[in-house]
Amino acid sequence: MDKIRIGVIGAGGIAGAHLRAYAAHSDRCEIAGIADVIPAAAEARVAEYGGRAFTDAETMLDALRPDAVSICTPPKYHLPVVEAAAARGIAVLCEKPPARNLAETEAIVAAMRGVLLQFAFCHRFHPPLKAAQALIQSGQLGELAQIENRFAFRFSRAGTSWFTEAEISGGGILIDTLVHSIDIFRALTGQEITTTHAVTSAKLPIDVEDSASLLVRSSNGVIGTLNCSWVTPVSEAVVRVYGTEGQAIIDYDAAAGLRYKLADDADWTEQNFDEPDRFVAQADHFLRCIENGSAPLVRPEDGLAVMRVIESAYQSAEEQP
Ligand SMILES: NC(=O)c1ccc[n+]([C@@H]2O[C@H](COP(=O)([O-])OP(=O)(O)OC[C@H]3O[C@@H](n4cnc5c(N)ncnc54)[C@H](O)[C@@H]3O)[C@@H](O)[C@H]2O)c1
Repeated sequence: MDKIRIGVIGAGGIAGAHLRAYAAHSDRCEIAGIADVIPAAAEARVAEYGGRAFTDAETMLDALRPDAVSICTPPKYHLPVVEAAAARGIAVLCEKPPARNLAETEAIVAAMRGVLLQFAFCHRFHPPLKAAQALIQSGQLGELAQIENRFAFRFSRAGTSWFTEAEISGGGILIDTLVHSIDIFRALTGQEITTTHAVTSAKLPIDVEDSASLLVRSSNGVIGTLNCSWVTPVSEAVVRVYGTEGQAIIDYDAAAGLRYKLADDADWTEQNFDEPDRFVAQADHFLRCIENGSAPLVRPEDGLAVMRVIESAYQSAEEQP
């Protein structure tokens, strides 16, 4: 098979992770073009990763007819760019959040019917998370009871970028970061979220929330407490899984990405991972879906399910006094 020709749309921060990941699979794919409304942004990426630079996504799609695109623009532009790719039958790896709201996500899924669409919920490919899923499935943790998650850091782009302009982003940390938390909770429980309570706050002088906590329950009764903040200076990225026979901790910053302790264990068992990171694994999976015509691990329905929870979370937060 010829190399898969990739277009990258949006050449900012996360595009760097996509380009680095495709470069790790340079035996199977090549960067055909990179489009960004800021010419220098596209040109700088082209200088490093190859291809041609464009300032307009549709012009690039018509000029190069790539097999696949990574959509790495702010959320407001996900839907129009997906529609342009869909109209040309081009496979899409679309960054999270899928879009600014559920209605736009539904439009994305409808437009891509019959064409490969993978939402970039990259944590599904985080090796310690995959190992935790296997541990849960092995039954060693017993029945899942609770999951705690915290993604927190001091976000320098809060208040200084599109991330805090709701018209572009769709909201604040709830839609930006808790989409990951919700996807992780669904992946670990293997169930849908049926109950959502949310509270949000803003410490910064911005119009969107910069801290948010979700209390959720899955259809099989697992409780999740998902807490994220952009204003707390000590970075944390942790998922704790509690079952009736043991518990596991996925700590993104620890040398041992996963550790667990079962009911009769005296000590924690630690697992280290030297596999490629989640972005490289995500690109590998996307390329494999193109090569084999197979369905993606993160399905369009997953994007819809996550955005349904986000929508209920915003409704719940609005109901708080
Ligand atoms: N998976 C993750 O962990 C992760 C991390 C960061 C960001 N993201 C997501 O990736 C997307 C981009 O975030 P970012 O941090 O890279 O933002 P960014 O601001 O660093 O980069 C976005 C780029 O898109 C360009 N752009 C805007 N509109 C465009 C258009 N219509 N056509 C072409 N280019 C356009 C901008 O000029 C900018 O260079 C967002 O959806 C964000 O939520 C995901």
